[in-house]
Amino acid sequence: MDKEELINSLNWFYSLETSQVELYTAQSRKFKDQYGGMVFERVAEIEQGHGDLISAKIKELGGTPTQLGEVISTIIGASMGTILSMTGLDMALRINIKLEEKAMSDYSQLIASVEKEGESPESELCKLLKYNYVDEDLHAAEFAKLIGTEGE
Ligand SMILES: [Fe+2]
Ligand SMILES: [Fe+2]
Repeated sequence: MDKEELINSLNWFYSLETSQVELYTAQSRKFKDQYGGMVFERVAEIEQGHGDLISAKIKELGGTPTQLGEVISTIIGASMGTILSMTGLDMALRINIKLEEKAMSDYSQLIASVEKEGESPESELCKLLKYNYVDEDLHAAEFAKLIGTEGE
């Protein structure tokens, strides 16, 4: 993987993280009267942190953070507007879990490929990717825990 391929791959994560901030922030408003709404608000902040770190890494590599189209539609098969118009906390949680799982599988692929090409597992890049992976794992677990709590 040359530098340009790495930048392209990081732009994918930048796009995904940024889209998650947008979706989770909108969901936090939609479900503001429930605990789930608070969880979405907090997770949106964490995704913002991920996006900021990836953006900084792209710039450090000489690239420009770029939004690569409608990544949520690509993963879920429905636009953000359609997703937000679907009713119910459980539906939102199930969609979010799909996004978190996609992020986890893509992070682990990128970690494996940069390490295979000689990047130290302890490098700043690998740690960034691994810490994000751990956060996505926590998000998916929390979202799964909240299924069935509508109205609580
Ligand atoms: Fe994230
Ligand atoms: Fe996440």
